[in-house]
Amino acid sequence: MKLYHRCLLGISMAGSLQLASCATKTNTKTSTSETMTTEQKALETASADVHSYARPAEAVAKHLDLDIAVDFNSKTISGTASYLIDNLTKTNEIVFDVRGLQIEKVYLGDNKEETTFTLGENNTFLGQPLTVNIKPDTRTVTIQYKTSADAAALQWLNPQQTAGKKYPFLFTQSQAILARTWIPIQDSPGIRITYNATVKVPKELLAVMSASNPQEKNSSGVYTFEMKQPIPSYLMALSVGDLVFSKVGPQTGIYAEPATIEAAAYEFAEMDKMLVAAEKIYGKYRWDRYDLLVLPPSFPFGGMENPRLTFVTPTVLAKDRSLTSLIAHELAHSWSGNLVTNATWNDFWLNEGFTVYFERRIMEEIYGKEYAAMLNVLGYQDLQHTLDDIGRQNEDTRLKLDLEGRDPDEGLTDIAYEKGNAFLQNIERAVGREKFDQFVNKYFNTFAFKSTNTDLFLDFLRTELIKGDEELAEKINIEGWVFSPGLPADVQKPESTRFAAVAATYTSWANGTPAKQLDTKDWSSHEWLHFIRLLPAKMTPQQLTDLDTAFGFTNSGNSEVLAAWLLHTINNKYTKADKALETFLVNVGRRKFLIPLYKALLQTPEGKKKALAIYAKARPNYHAVSTVTIDDMLK
Ligand code: BES
Ligand code: ZN
Repeated sequence: MKLYHRCLLGISMAGSLQLASCATKTNTKTSTSETMTTEQKALETASADVHSYARPAEAVAKHLDLDIAVDFNSKTISGTASYLIDNLTKTNEIVFDVRGLQIEKVYLGDNKEETTFTLGENNTFLGQPLTVNIKPDTRTVTIQYKTSADAAALQWLNPQQTAGKKYPFLFTQSQAILARTWIPIQDSPGIRITYNATVKVPKELLAVMSASNPQEKNSSGVYTFEMKQPIPSYLMALSVGDLVFSKVGPQTGIYAEPATIEAAAYEFAEMDKMLVAAEKIYGKYRWDRYDLLVLPPSFPFGGMENPRLTFVTPTVLAKDRSLTSLIAHELAHSWSGNLVTNATWNDFWLNEGFTVYFERRIMEEIYGKEYAAMLNVLGYQDLQHTLDDIGRQNEDTRLKLDLEGRDPDEGLTDIAYEKGNAFLQNIERAVGREKFDQFVNKYFNTFAFKSTNTDLFLDFLRTELIKGDEELAEKINIEGWVFSPGLPADVQKPESTRFAAVAATYTSWANGTPAKQLDTKDWSSHEWLHFIRLLPAKMTPQQLTDLDTAFGFTNSGNSEVLAAWLLHTINNKYTKADKALETFLVNVGRRKFLIPLYKALLQTPEGKKKALAIYAKARPNYHAVSTVTIDDMLK
C-alpha cells in the first residue's frame, strides 16, 4: 500500500510560493522492485514525479475524450475532458493537475451524474490538484472547464503576428508541465493516455493536433482527431490557423500558412529521406504519418516533437536546407521520447540525450560523417558554453537531475542534450557501433509505449551490455557521466576536418588578410557559424566593417548566422547592426536566440536601455515561456 501526503506549500523569504516538501508521496511498499511487473514499475516511477499532483498508483486515466471549442475573441478554450479511468485501489478520489483552469462541473459515469470536487492550494508553476470524488467502480470522469485568457501553454496571435496577416492563429506548447493550463489532466510524463478529440474552430480556420489530422478545411469548422497510441500529457498539442497542407512523401507532409507553404515545401523536401534513414537505424516508425507544422515566428522553440505532427519554427527556413538537422532531431523523438519516455523531468536526458545522438546518426546516414561531425562540434561548443555559464560544479550539470521544488523548465538545459549525447557516443566507442545499435534497438522495443527513468535505463545497460565486464564498466563510467557534475576526463572532444579548414581561414584573417580575400567558397551555414564563433570577443570597428562588407552578416537570412553575429555586434557596439537586431528581436520569439541576445545587451547601461526599449515592442510577440525568463532578466 502506498501512503501519500499532500505537498506542503510554504512561502519563501522572497515571498514566492515554494514547495517546502513535495517528496511527500511516501512509500510503504509491500512488493519489492524484483517482484513488480513492468506496469507496476511504470506506475511507481510515475508516482515519483514531483511535478504532478496525480496519484496514478491509486487511480489513473487511460483514455481521454476531449470536446472543446476555441474562441479567439475571449482567447479561451472551453468544453469537456472525459476520462476513462482505472481505479486501481478502489479509492474514492482521483487527482488531476490543473493550472488557471475554471472547473465548472464534474460528472461520473456515462449518464453523467454530477459529483463533488476540490481544488487544492495554488503553486505558481505546479498549479493545483483537482481532486474528484469518485466511487470504487467509477469508469468515467467528465470535467467541464474553461481556460483562462493567460493560459501559459496557449499563444493567441493576432493577424498581424502571422505570415498572412489576415487571420488569427493559436498554438499550444505543453512540454514540460503546461498541458495542465489548457486541459485538466494527470500531467506527468510517466502516465500515458490515448485520446479522441472534437474541436470547434472559426470556419475560416483549420485545426490540427498531435493525432490523425485533416488535410483541408471543412465548412462546419468542427474537426475530429484520434490518437490511438498511448502518449504522455506533454505531447498533447493543438494548433488553429489559416493552414494548408502540402504532400512531401507517401507518409509525410507539411502544414503551413499559404504565405509560407512554398518555402517550407522546398526547405523540408528531404524529410521523407530522414524517415527512411531513421527506420534503417532504429526500426519501424510506429506513428503512421509524420507531418510538420510550420508556425509563425513567435514559436518559442526550434521544434517540438508532438506525435505525428512536429511543430517547427519558421527560423529554419534558410532557403538552402542548411538547418534541417532540427527536423532529424524532432523525428528522432518519435523513438526517444515519444515511444520511450522519460518518467519524470529529472530523467530529461533520456529524452534529449538519446535524441541528439539519434539526430546526428540520421544526418550522418544522409549527408555523411563529415556533416555529422560539424554538428557534433557545434553541440560540444554549446555544452562547454553552458558548463562555463552555470559552473562545472553546478548540480544541474549532472545527467540525473533533481528539480524538486523548482519549475522543471529551469533545469532543462543543453546538459541533457549534449552531455547526454557525449555519454552515449562514449558507450558506442567502447562497444562498437554494431553492438551499441543492437542494444539501443532492444531498449526501444523493450520500453516501447512505456516510461523509463535513469535507474531503469542503467539496469538495462548493465544487464544487456556491460554483463559483468568490469573493464567495460570502467570505460562506460556511469558514475562520472550520470551522477557527477561537469564533464568526466574520458570525454572525447569531437573534431571536424571541415572546421579545421575554417579555423585556418580564420587565422589568416586574424593575421591581417582582408575578409574579401578569404577563401570561403562552398561554406555551409555550419562553417559560417563556426567562423563567427571563432571571432574574438573584442573587435575594432574596422574589423567588424571589414567582415560585414565582405560577408553581409547583418543582412543574413540565416537565423543561426545572424544570431551569432548579433552577439558580436552588441558586445562591440557595432551600431550599424542595431536596426537588424531590433527587427530580429521584435519578430522572432525563439527563446534560444532571445536569451543570449538580451543577456549581452544587459552588460552595459546603454545596452540595457536598448533592451528595455526593444522589449517594450517585442514582448507582445513572445510566448509566455519566453516572457517569464526575460521579465526576470530585465527586472
Ligand atoms: N522537446 C524539445 C523542446 C522542449 C524541451 C520544450 C523542454 C519544452 C521543454 C525539442 O525536441 C527540442 O529539443 N528542440 C530544440 C531543437 C533541437 C534541434 C535541439 C529547440 O527548440 O531548440
Ligand atoms: Zn528534443
